[in-house]
Amino acid sequence: MAKKKKISFDITVYDSLNELKESDRKLLGLAVEARKNAYAPYSKFNVGAAVLLENGEVEIGSNQENASYPSGLCAERVAIFHAGAKFPGVPVKTIAITAASEDYEVTVPAAPCGNCRQAIFEYEFKQKSPIRLLLMGASGSIVECASLEDILPLGFNNTYLK
Ligand code: THU
Repeated sequence: MAKKKKISFDITVYDSLNELKESDRKLLGLAVEARKNAYAPYSKFNVGAAVLLENGEVEIGSNQENASYPSGLCAERVAIFHAGAKFPGVPVKTIAITAASEDYEVTVPAAPCGNCRQAIFEYEFKQKSPIRLLLMGASGSIVECASLEDILPLGFNNTYLK
């Protein structure tokens, strides 16, 4: 007999940066700094990411576009791949992401694209501990998700390959 199952998850919404704990505010601050180095001449949509690792190190990334559009890469993947390359095997605790447009005010929290969700999920599944997300626009509220898996339900991982 078919059963309906609901998949739901909680997020925490902060009205301003002041409500965050100091370390999270700092990480988002580093993402904002990283955002300034975005190379986004085509979309004019600048994204910054800061990845906090279990060893206390922070790696940053920003979106890097290309005249051949699909050759560019999102900020989140630049950051997490850099972290993986520099500190292989060190678990990721939190990723802070922020987006700002050169054309309009982004007032909603940055939402990682599907490809980035999949890329981050690989690390979360591998390390067997949740990767927390902090999402922010250029202004407005900040959203905290406890785990990447929450925003990629029924995600694909390497258990399907065995
Ligand atoms: N972008 C990111 O950097 N992260 C995302 O999760 C969504 C989109 C970038 C890619 C591209 O350079 C620009 O934003 C517009 O899509």
